[in-house]
Formats: sequence, structure tokens, C-alpha cells
Amino acid sequence: MASFAQAPRGDSKSGEKIFKTKCAQCHTIEKAAGHKQGPNLNGLFGRQSGTAPGYSYSAANKSMAVIWGENTLYDYLLNPKKYIPGTKMVFPGLKKPQERADLIAYLKESTAS
Ligand code: HEC
Repeated sequence: MASFAQAPRGDSKSGEKIFKTKCAQCHTIEKAAGHKQGPNLNGLFGRQSGTAPGYSYSAANKSMAVIWGENTLYDYLLNPKKYIPGTKMVFPGLKKPQERADLIAYLKESTAS
């Protein structure tokens, strides 16, 4: 399995573009921005999967019970349906290590405040 330890250095500027084109239709990141089709991602790092307040997750996402961080997101975003079988997130994944590293760098900054 791919490992974040071997990931290229992430660039949050290009990660922001990836978020806007591939994630923002279903996710917000600002605090108190509310849920869309997917849960609000504010405070994601260090949070257990399936625990954003007020969002109705699939049983699969909740029972996965991983702590979101660089390592888990790097694997999840490669192929969400493989990482969490039964997830209701319809997204094929980001195959390029650089894209995942960039996106994670952006998420780390933007979901923290
Ligand atoms: C078509 C809508 C859609 C797109 C596009 C999408 N997501 Fe999701 N996402 C969801 C849904 C719905 C869930 C909840 C899954 C469940 O409950 O099974 C989810 C769950 C997640 C979770 C788990 C959150 C938690 O609290 O456990 C993360 C992290 C996530 N998405 C990140 C992303 C990122 C990053 C992208 C862009 C690369 C993305 N998603 C693209 C709909 C989407």
C-alpha cells in the first residue's frame, strides 16, 4: 500500500485547485459552513471517521473508525471505495501521489481554523 512517508512534498496552492474542482461540490471546509452531500470537513485532522456532528453517515464510514490524518487520507483518497467498502462517497480516487500530497497539504491548512 502507498505510504505517505514516501509521498512527494505537497503544495497547498495546487491542492486548493484540486479541492475546488474535485471535492467542493460535496464538501465545505470552513467552520460552521454546514454539510452538503458530504460532511463539513472542518477539524478533520485528528478526528475519528464518521463523527462530524449533525451529518448522517453510512454505517461503513462510521464503523471504519480511523483517525483522519496524513497517512489515512493518503490511502483513503487513492481509492475511497476500497478503503471504506460500502461508503456512500461517490468519488473514484486520485491516482497520482502528487495530487494526493497537494490536496492533503491544503486540507491540513484549511480545515484547521
Ligand atoms: C459526489 C460527492 C462527493 C465528492 C465529489 C467527494 N466526497 Fe467526500 N464524502 C462524500 C460523502 C457522501 C461522504 C460520507 C460517506 C459515508 O457516510 O459513507 C464523504 C466522506 C468523506 C470523508 C470522511 C469524512 C468523515 O468525517 O469521516 C472525507 C475525508 C472526504 N469525504 C474527503 C473528500 C475529498 C478530499 C474529496 C475530493 C478529492 C471528496 N471527499 C470528494 C461525498 C463526496
